[in-house]
Amino acid sequence: MPCWRRLCAAVLLLAATAVAHTAAHAAAPIKPHIADATVKAGRERLSLDRGWLFHLGDVRQAPIVGHEESYSNAKAGNAPGAAGAEFDDSDWRRLDLPHDWAVEGPFDPKANISQGYRPRGIGWYRRYLQVDPADRGRHFELQFDAIATHATVYVNGNVVNRNWSGYNASNIDITPYLTYGDALNTISIRVDAEAMEGWWYEGAGMYRHAWLVKRAPVHVATDGVYAVPRPDKSGKGKEWSLPVEVTLNNSGKKASDVTVEVTVFDPAGKQVGRQVAKASVGVLKDATVKLPFRISDPALWSIARTNLYKVVTRVLENGKAQDEVALHTGFRTIRFDAQQGFFLNGEHLKLQGVCIHQDHAGVGVAIPDSVWEYRLRRLKELGVNAIRFSHNAPAAEVLDMVDRMGFVVMDENRNFNPSPDYMKQLEWMVRRDRHHPGIILWSVFNEEPVQGSEVGYEMVRRMAAAVKSLDDTRPVTAAMNGGFFSDLNVAHAVDVVGANYQVPDYDRFHKAYPTVPFTSSEDTSAFMTRGVFKTDKDKNQIASYDDLADAAQWGNTHRDAWEAIAKRPFVAGGFVWTGFDYRGEPTPNEWPSVSSVFGIMDLNGFPKNAYYIHQAQWIKDRPLIHIAPHWNWAGSEGKNIRVMVMANVERIELRLNGKQLGEQKADPFRMNYFNVAYAPGKLEAIGYNGGKEVVRTAVETTGEPVALELVPDRQDLAGDGRDAMPITVRALDAQGRAVPLADPVVTFKVTGGGRSIGHGNGDPTSHEDEKGATRRLFNGLAQLIVQTSYDATQPVTVEASAPGLKVATVTIPVKAVAAVPFVASADAPLTFVRTWRVAPPGDTRPNPNQKIDSFDMNTWGWGQPPMWGAAGSKFNLYRSSFTPRKNLADGNGLIRFAGIKGRAEVWINGKLVGKKDSFAAAPLDLELPAGTGKREISVIVEAEPGQGGAQGSGITGNVTIEPKK
Ligand code: GAL
Repeated sequence: MPCWRRLCAAVLLLAATAVAHTAAHAAAPIKPHIADATVKAGRERLSLDRGWLFHLGDVRQAPIVGHEESYSNAKAGNAPGAAGAEFDDSDWRRLDLPHDWAVEGPFDPKANISQGYRPRGIGWYRRYLQVDPADRGRHFELQFDAIATHATVYVNGNVVNRNWSGYNASNIDITPYLTYGDALNTISIRVDAEAMEGWWYEGAGMYRHAWLVKRAPVHVATDGVYAVPRPDKSGKGKEWSLPVEVTLNNSGKKASDVTVEVTVFDPAGKQVGRQVAKASVGVLKDATVKLPFRISDPALWSIARTNLYKVVTRVLENGKAQDEVALHTGFRTIRFDAQQGFFLNGEHLKLQGVCIHQDHAGVGVAIPDSVWEYRLRRLKELGVNAIRFSHNAPAAEVLDMVDRMGFVVMDENRNFNPSPDYMKQLEWMVRRDRHHPGIILWSVFNEEPVQGSEVGYEMVRRMAAAVKSLDDTRPVTAAMNGGFFSDLNVAHAVDVVGANYQVPDYDRFHKAYPTVPFTSSEDTSAFMTRGVFKTDKDKNQIASYDDLADAAQWGNTHRDAWEAIAKRPFVAGGFVWTGFDYRGEPTPNEWPSVSSVFGIMDLNGFPKNAYYIHQAQWIKDRPLIHIAPHWNWAGSEGKNIRVMVMANVERIELRLNGKQLGEQKADPFRMNYFNVAYAPGKLEAIGYNGGKEVVRTAVETTGEPVALELVPDRQDLAGDGRDAMPITVRALDAQGRAVPLADPVVTFKVTGGGRSIGHGNGDPTSHEDEKGATRRLFNGLAQLIVQTSYDATQPVTVEASAPGLKVATVTIPVKAVAAVPFVASADAPLTFVRTWRVAPPGDTRPNPNQKIDSFDMNTWGWGQPPMWGAAGSKFNLYRSSFTPRKNLADGNGLIRFAGIKGRAEVWINGKLVGKKDSFAAAPLDLELPAGTGKREISVIVEAEPGQGGAQGSGITGNVTIEPKK
């Protein structure tokens, strides 16, 4: 017992000392050296698309074997090799985003068929970032909108994020890792595109935009404003509530009491509501504020009138605005009815939808925003009113366009998995996208084998609940391709059941689930090669007549699929697989076919015959008529040609060279066929309504091609380095008619304020380089995509030439426009000698070459400049190592000390390379001896006699290795 008491006493004594210590500490806290200056208010969202360095392939590091290396490797900021801050990337390729490296490479018959025989592999990106010391205290977030496919992001040698989906954004708070001023920050990203999430072409790399967002310490969190209007249940559709919820975050060093102000503007820009609320946001905490709005008789959003309201959120502290963020939202009601399908604002709307992937000719998945606009415009012209972004959420800019152009959307999650990591992917999608009025359905999966089981049901139940907790205004669906009729299945867990194919089961489903709303989530899967009217198995070419033989066994022809949907009121609508061809999945073919043939349009957005079939079925507000095929059948004179006429009129008449061939009642589902004995000339189709001609079209036999033609998609381009446009390339005969089967190899030359970013021709078997200078026309067409350069003012001139054909030239005016605010590229990074070991101080000159045992992590201390010598000591010895960049290793480099206070000797690899003889603080530049590999540097600093107090001597600024001027 006494012994026990002694022990207690000892413990008590220790405790007392500790308390005393703490008290002393509390009385005189050590102040951080860096003063807490006033932090800049406001938000900047800067494009980080420019100035990346890229290396194709992995960067392997030598294995770590030694004591010290093992120790260092495990420390913050010390990620090795290309992940680290000091890595020699001087021979990496320079590029701007968006970037898809897979589309740049050649095809390989041994590569994955689903990915379009495009090897993907691993790649690295690096970028330097200079941060103004005046920005200290602000919150810095990196935003990568998507990286294909697995991405590990490092900042200054710290791993800051891992994103295991190629379709999700990574929003990364990098504030704690930053250095300010001259010492550049390094962002480095390892991208693993061996990983596959799909069975289609997924591209590789940083294929969407990147941003740097700087905000005040108290700010609105990313995707932190929820603003989705709801119709007032009691009212007659005129009264709406708009419950706005704002999530704030405080990265600052003091708790803040702020005012949140939300203002709502109508589509004309008139303010229709303003509310304020108070919030206290603790240090490094979040806070949520709710502001309930009532809006009377708003202008509704619809397909035809895309009225968008703007919601502006401001955060004010002591009356001063700290942050501001705006988003748009829309007032509309949606309802899925189990008997009658879908209603938008109470009006029935049959979903005339397409599924689309996200790659385009020439650019792969790195599609410029303006090319997305082109794609959506093509869908609009086709008569599409609904899009299923299969099987992943699209870029945010695409959803903004959808809202502005008027489409309803099924937004689909990629990975079906309710475990925490994957649930975050789903939650990210809902949080980012929920303000878009265009979105009418959240889809949690596509065709999952467990869909007919309890497992599928339980998984979906959890994912649906996660969606609902973030947005309960839209139904949750899942795209099922079976399993509906088991006792417990996914149909029991969703609000709207989506069926992929399964046409024979539509009625059975409705009978089994009479109260459950139902839509086709995917249908058709018919094959068609653009411009081909005779199937040629040897060439993997499929005719365009929409015959049963040319539809997938599990699918239907375009006409059968739509007829099945259109004739059943309980089916809300359809989503044709697919709107556009895409790379990969060349079903029913394999190599040499490298892209799909399911599209209503080809990879360029050029219409196939299916385009005219669907136009005739879907467009009601104007008469349309189209004839297939072309009328160039030399050698088939007198033989019957199968002619298909697609029209949305009552009657059709066909004439060849002015002579009537026949008249038929137009069939709105099957379309119309005629057998016509071929004679060159003009084949004309005339459409009648009520006995009156309302529309007419013709195909004509053309002569041989004599000239090329370039047809730009738009009048002009914006000189912002982002705007891009497709240019159609055709061959014309002597009378200026496009020659349907022309296939010359065309050479492009682009000069002035822009450049080519790729081209295509819609031939699924083409293995041409999509980025090269030439492209063959396929069935009369090719597409070149040009993009302006940054700060362009010169027009873009495109010249197309081919042997024997008249050259075509087009000059596209470029409007000078302000660039999207961006982060300047940080050029020619210096090697910073950052981490130093510091020997115990002494009063006698130390041996600069004394050894530190590799297992001794403690006798010598650790430091980063500025490093002040120990007070009262005369000599300090510092040691580090660095590997100069290749261009500096051969005697072209300097070792630059921004400041040394005291006399100094600098030793490299055991040899004295220079001295500083004065005690006064001054910079020191020394020549870096030639040589290769890693160097060990030792610096002795001697304090001026009597001046060895605090900050009396030391390495007082950055140490860099840089080129001699
Ligand atoms: C579906 C699938 C699509 C595509 C299509 C081809 O089963 O959802 O992604 O593969 O088949 O017919």
